[in-house]
Amino acid sequence: MKTENEWRQDPEYVSLVKDLLEQPAVKRLAHYKQHHHSNRLQHSIAVSFDSYKLAKKMHLDYKSTARAGLLHDLFYYDWRTTKFNLGSHAFIHPRVALRNAEKITHLNKKERDIILKHMFGATMAVPRYMESLIVSMVDNYEAEHEFFGPLRKKLEQQKKVVDWHATPSKNSKKI
Ligand SMILES: [Fe+2]
Ligand SMILES: [Fe+2]
Repeated sequence: MKTENEWRQDPEYVSLVKDLLEQPAVKRLAHYKQHHHSNRLQHSIAVSFDSYKLAKKMHLDYKSTARAGLLHDLFYYDWRTTKFNLGSHAFIHPRVALRNAEKITHLNKKERDIILKHMFGATMAVPRYMESLIVSMVDNYEAEHEFFGPLRKKLEQQKKVVDWHATPSKNSKKI
């Protein structure tokens, strides 16, 4: 997403996920930190919206992509501190998200697959649908972007200050 609120300008996208965004179970995601600079709700919307746009461009099922993308991380624990006996976080949380998603909406086969296989690469669960592959790839991209994006911005600002100090003659002329 170019900006945090870009999705609000797309009425079709909003109409597809509005009922889910109104659910307390989805709103609650805002209380959980995801990738250092984002909360889980912001992350889920970003994954959902970018996946929806890609699916639409590719003439795929963008409705299922938008809805399941939004629910792909519907779990309520801090994955940095909570550990499981049954398996890794990468293995467990898609199952937890699927169970929680089924409590708030009906999911079709594709939506179930999207949620369950979104950790493809980290787990051996191979996506059955192109839409599932899109969400898993966008999820990976967003994780990197959310983590490094603000850091990159900070470095760019610092570089500008350094550049400014490194060229005093040029700057003094401006003054
Ligand atoms: Fe996830
Ligand atoms: Fe995610």
